[in-house]
Order: sequence, then C-alpha cells, then structure tokens
Amino acid sequence: MDKLQLERAAALTAARYDHPPLAFVHSFGCQQNVSDGEHLKGLLAEMGFGFTDSAENADLVLFNTCAVRESAEDRVFGNVGALKNIKRERPELMIALCGCMMQRPEVAERIKKSFPYVDIVFGTGAMHRLPEFLIRRLEGGKRVFWDQPAKNVIEGIPAVREEGVKAWLPIMQGCNNFCTYCIVPYVRGREVSRAPERIEQEARELVGRGYREITLLGQNVNSYGRGLAKPYNFPELLRRLDRVEGEYRLRFMTSHPKDCTRELIDVIAQSRHVCRHIHLPVQSGSDRVVQAMNRHYHIDGYLELIAYAREKMPDVTFSSDIIVGFPGETREEFLETLALIKKVRYNALFTFIYSRRAGTPAAEMPDPVPAGEKSEWFRELLEVQQGICCELNEAMVGSVQRVLFDSPGKSGEGFLAGRTEGNVIVEAPGDRSLIGRFLPVKITRAMNWAMVGTILESR
Ligand code: 5AD
Ligand code: SF4
Repeated sequence: MDKLQLERAAALTAARYDHPPLAFVHSFGCQQNVSDGEHLKGLLAEMGFGFTDSAENADLVLFNTCAVRESAEDRVFGNVGALKNIKRERPELMIALCGCMMQRPEVAERIKKSFPYVDIVFGTGAMHRLPEFLIRRLEGGKRVFWDQPAKNVIEGIPAVREEGVKAWLPIMQGCNNFCTYCIVPYVRGREVSRAPERIEQEARELVGRGYREITLLGQNVNSYGRGLAKPYNFPELLRRLDRVEGEYRLRFMTSHPKDCTRELIDVIAQSRHVCRHIHLPVQSGSDRVVQAMNRHYHIDGYLELIAYAREKMPDVTFSSDIIVGFPGETREEFLETLALIKKVRYNALFTFIYSRRAGTPAAEMPDPVPAGEKSEWFRELLEVQQGICCELNEAMVGSVQRVLFDSPGKSGEGFLAGRTEGNVIVEAPGDRSLIGRFLPVKITRAMNWAMVGTILESR
C-alpha cells in the first residue's frame, strides 16, 4: 500500500470535517464480498475513519455491492435511492459504491445518469485504489468512475475484521469456470491464487489473535494454485495449514464438484483442524441441465464422490446450492433434483430461483416456464429439504457434539449459539464468557433451525 497516499487522504478528510470522520460500510453479497468489505474498512481505518452502522451518522457511505442475482442489485438501487435526502441535507457526505455490480458497465452508466449525488464508483478490481479515489474527489475533482478489471491479487491491504471467533481468509480471487448462468467470471475476472506462504502467515496471525474458526475463501477453492509459479494444489494447502498449531477449526468454500478430488477427501479425513463438512454445490440433479450450465460433471460421479467421503468419514455432512428454473428446465428435470436431494440428504441447502443475468450465455436461452410455476417448484424443494433437515436433526438428539460457541443465542435469555463440526447450529444455556470455547454439548431437542442442548463441562 502507498503510505503517502493514505496520509494524504487522511489529511484531506480531517480538513473536510470538524470531527473525527465516521464511515458506514455495508456489504450486500457472499462471503468473498464480506471479506472485501473488511479490507475496505482496513483502508478507511488507515485514513482515520471510525465506523458507524447507520448512514444517518456517517460522513462516508460505502456500499459494497453484489451482482449474482437481480434481487441483490435491486436492493442496492433501493438503498442508494434512500441516500438522496441525506445528501441533500448534508452535501459534505461522501457516497461511494464498489463491488461486483459496479464492475458492470451498464450499472455504472445508470449510476452516472440517474444518481448524480454518488461521488465514487469502482469495481472489485480496484479496491486498493480507494485512497486515490478519495483524494481525487476531495481535491475537488469530478465524480470518479473506475471499471478496469483486476489482473492480480493485491497483497498487504489491511483488514478490520469483525471481532470475535470466526475469520474469513481469501486464498484466491476470480473464476475461470463460466457456468452459463453466472456473472461472477465477468465481474471478478480470471482466477488468481495467493502464494501459500502468505496464506499460511495470515492463518498463523489469525490463530495467534485468538480466532477459533478460519474459513478459506475462493469461488472455486479446488482449483487453487493452478497459475502459481511453483505448482501447488488445494489439498496440499490444507495439509500445510493443518500443521499450524493451536485450537482452531478450518473450513473452506466454495468447492466445485468437477475439481473436488479423492485426495482432498483423504486430506480432510486425516486432518486435525479441517471440519468434516463439505459445501459442494450441485446446482441441479439433472445431467442435461448440469451440462447446459457448463458445469462439467455427471450426477453419477457426484454421488460416487459423496459415497467415498462417507466411507472415509461416516460423520461427514454436506451442503449445496441449488438453482430452480434454469432456462429450459422441465418438470421432469426438476424432479431429478428432488430425487438427488433425497439421496444425498444435505444438512443445509442454499436455494435460488434462476435470475437472468445479461451478458451470460443462459440469458440467451429460451426460458418458457412461467415465473409462477418456478415459484411452485421452489416451494416444493424447500418442503422436501425441510423434511430431510427435521429427520437429520431428530437423529442427533441424545448425541454429544463438540460445539464452538460464537455468539449469544436466539432461543431464550441466557442461551449461547454455536456450530458443530458438521456446521449444525446448536443453542445451549451458558455464560457469555464461554463464547470462543469448544465444548461438549449433549443434544436434548431439535428445533426447526437449530438443535438445543446442555453443556457437559466448561472448566
Ligand atoms: N441465478 C440464480 N442463482 C445463481 N447463482 C449464481 N448465479 C445465479 C443466477 N444467475 C447461485 C449459484 C451459486 C450461488 C453462489 O449463487 O447456486 O452457487
Ligand atoms: Fe459462478 Fe460457476 Fe464460477 Fe461459481 S464456479 S462463481 S457458479 S462461474
């Protein structure tokens, strides 16, 4: 990072306000987007900003946006619209928009024309340039619009992470897969991996600072290391990180089934810190639809992988992403998805109705199924999954689980919430001082969204 630039931005900001400046940073998207938000906050902190969680109190509002579905974009436009009155009352408020959505030229164009009170717009590839953009604007320059894509990972951007138990750790950026429905490769650019040494160093720092769960992030972690000067792969990275001493857990997301290998499963089975839970998005249970999505696997192969993992780790759990109503999907093909879900018995599903993204190949495919019918299929899917979750949860009653408590619970006064290694939410009565501890919990009852239990020992 350019120290002089950070200092210049801090001086200009200090001169603009008669009080220590506050920033409101809001991230709208996936974990990668949230992690980017933490780095943007890191930069703002270096420039002298404190933080607030409301736009009303802020001197700078930064919306870190998501482009994966239209609904996410609509939400951003709504939120930006709501800033108009605040800016009218306080013209010194700076408004900046960044993230995936801002990498789309048509969005930037719309902001330029219809939201004249927005000061700075930049995409995911230019996060590290925030100080430079602020300087340009604060020195009285024109509104800043920057849409150059990222070419490499910028190291050394500080981060302000949420205090607590869990930390995100990005290991790569971008995506090379071009699933036909997905906008990500167009907005985040090509896949670039961070050096394993850097990742290990950051993991050591996080463990040293007391984080108990580290989630490695990438659009497709299974292809980690492909472009590195010295070849390296994801199982090797996991093995390397697993050697870091301390009491902590490792998770990772997202895995692409086409690149998920038996070697990876063996590493998880042998590791001390890697959770026995794999998020393995299948998207659809129909081979025809999976091919039309350009996903490069077959359902048989996917099921074989799951069977292999269960053979090596009988307690392993799975979760997945499912898209309902991909263009041209028939009722029969949707029923194949339901059948797959019943076979795998995921302990969690992230379900989406297909959202058309201009510029992707699927946006050009005929899409004859009416929206109402897709919603009906979606409802059916949720119902089937809810039944499976209930059965899996009931089966846990009476067992003892190792739970990492991470926050106050929701099911009553004095409850704590945490997760099992398999990523199931557990609530139990306990003192807040137990947050951050791994504790054995006897499961006594299943609720819809979580398990309830009693902590067995907390000394
Ligand atoms: N419509 C609906 N869901 C989508 N996803 C990605 N693109 C779309 C889209 N156009 C879902 C996929 C992916 C998850 C992060 O978001 O299921 O795995
Ligand atoms: Fe999108 Fe597919 Fe890349 Fe995931 S792997 S970000 S779904 S293109």
